[in-house]
Amino acid sequence: MFAWLVNMKFIVAVTGTSGVVLCKRFLECLGEHATYLIVSDAAYKVAEYENVDMAELKNLAGRVYGEDDLDADIASSSNLVDAMVVVPCSMKTLSAVANGFCGNLITRAAENILKTGKKLVVVPRDTPLSLAAIENMKKLKLAGALIVPPNMAYYYGPVTLDDVTDFFVGKVLDALDLEHNLYSRWAGEDES
Ligand SMILES: Cc1cc2nc3c(=O)[nH]c(=O)nc-3n(C[C@H](O)[C@H](O)[C@H](O)COP(=O)(O)O)c2cc1C
Repeated sequence: MFAWLVNMKFIVAVTGTSGVVLCKRFLECLGEHATYLIVSDAAYKVAEYENVDMAELKNLAGRVYGEDDLDADIASSSNLVDAMVVVPCSMKTLSAVANGFCGNLITRAAENILKTGKKLVVVPRDTPLSLAAIENMKKLKLAGALIVPPNMAYYYGPVTLDDVTDFFVGKVLDALDLEHNLYSRWAGEDES
């Protein structure tokens, strides 16, 4: 299904916003890559409401941390990783990362990624968006992060909720330059 030449190391964070299943699907699709998963306290609560089995999700990761594990290896930028993905990302975590407020392991790790010039992919979920959220996204974009909101598209012909989930996760994989076949790419106008 996937064609990667080397294994990479990813920090993955899941926060307390709707769409926790996006993190589960993302981890499934990362295959053999090394994953360091950080779960916020609120993510556990949302997972319950959305019938996502957090034990199953955590089993997909190589290592798992809580948001208070500030003495973890990945709290330091001396622990070399390739990129970090916050999927899905709450408006609270978005704000903390955008403003350099390193109050937990997720925001500390994200700060490390930004200050070392590595790739940070953020999947913010909320609607409608507040002015603060829009400004925080702008700040993160200017800091070099990729903002990949789980926005619907219809052109590829989704039928099931899994199709929609795969489209969003495919966009995250695109942001990381990882090959996949989770959705059909636009191939241009059919001239026949
Ligand atoms: C069922 C449920 C759904 C939520 N959905 C969202 C959401 O879509 N976006 C958001 O920003 N916050 C959402 N929240 C609120 C966050 O969980 C809350 O702001 C929390 O403090 C986020 O903490 P975290 O960023 O540390 O995970 C939701 C909360 C619950 C209980």
